Amino acid sequence: MTETLADIANRMMAPGKGILAADESSSTIAKRFQAIGLDSTEDARRDYRELLFRAREAMSECISGVILFDETIRQKAADGTPLVQLIADAGAVPGIKVDKGAKALALSPGEKITEGLDGLRERLRDYHALGARFAKWRAVITIGDGLPTDNCIQANAGALARYAALCQENGIVPIVEPEVLMDNEGAAHDLATSAAVTERVLKAQFEHLVLAGVDLRGTILKPSMAIPGRESPVPASAAEVAEATARVLRAAVPADVAGIAFLSGGQSDEQATEHLSLINQIGDLPWPVTFSYGRALQAAAIKAWGGRPENVESAQAAFTHRARMNGLAAAGKWSAEAEKTAA
Ligand code: 13P
Repeated sequence: MTETLADIANRMMAPGKGILAADESSSTIAKRFQAIGLDSTEDARRDYRELLFRAREAMSECISGVILFDETIRQKAADGTPLVQLIADAGAVPGIKVDKGAKALALSPGEKITEGLDGLRERLRDYHALGARFAKWRAVITIGDGLPTDNCIQANAGALARYAALCQENGIVPIVEPEVLMDNEGAAHDLATSAAVTERVLKAQFEHLVLAGVDLRGTILKPSMAIPGRESPVPASAAEVAEATARVLRAAVPADVAGIAFLSGGQSDEQATEHLSLINQIGDLPWPVTFSYGRALQAAAIKAWGGRPENVESAQAAFTHRARMNGLAAAGKWSAEAEKTAA
């Protein structure tokens, strides 16, 4: 029997599990590698992704889906096994980033629009044949003087809705990711501003999704948390971030949505985990809430690896630790104590 979109989405939202965002574009992964003094060759990128996907405990117990980049979905492990196969063998759903990046939004200084709709139907068909059962599209919203504009919010929400409809037409669950940035230069906004903008963005997003006929039961939302900008002079406690985030989501996200999987967006590893756990502890939310972290799942692993074969095991251990801590957080069961004893 073929899985419905809702079946796939529910598998991605399995209790105590979350999504590994390993879909860094060639330029982003080059930046990550540069930080450990490594050239970004095709083999290096393959070796690194392979070590993550072969981390058996993390993958089978804590990871429900993996977002891949175009190169990776076509790559084979050193022994010839397709990387997609490693992911499926671990019981996780393979997915694919399909947007072509955020470009300057015309006549709207300081704002961006995500491109990639042209030819998307055909690309989705190819990706489905390669094993992808979900996709990701990221829009970027910047807070600043007079920003975001309605133009930027509407244009990105419209593009995300068109993308989501194309995904569902082709048997692929869309991850809808409208990211309100916290880590851009000059991001000095406070928690209340982040919360208000996030609510405005999400409300517009669901209007567009409904207008496009997208089935929310086969859709996963990947939002940013309501959180102060990285240069904000007014800090917020973890409890305040969790409280504000839950309030915004309740106000803006229909109960039909299959699940919510946060991005980490520049939070420290432990912050991203703690916030997720506190949000789940608030409880009584109408959707499952988990992680879809890139940096917050991988930063420690990349550092431990350093591009050296002899460090593969310690890199896998670092990844497994973060995956386990976030798995606990997805169930609202993380604690600083657990973090220390497990480390
Ligand atoms: P971060 O968790 O590093 O923000 O990445 C998640 C992601 O997929 C961004 O598109």
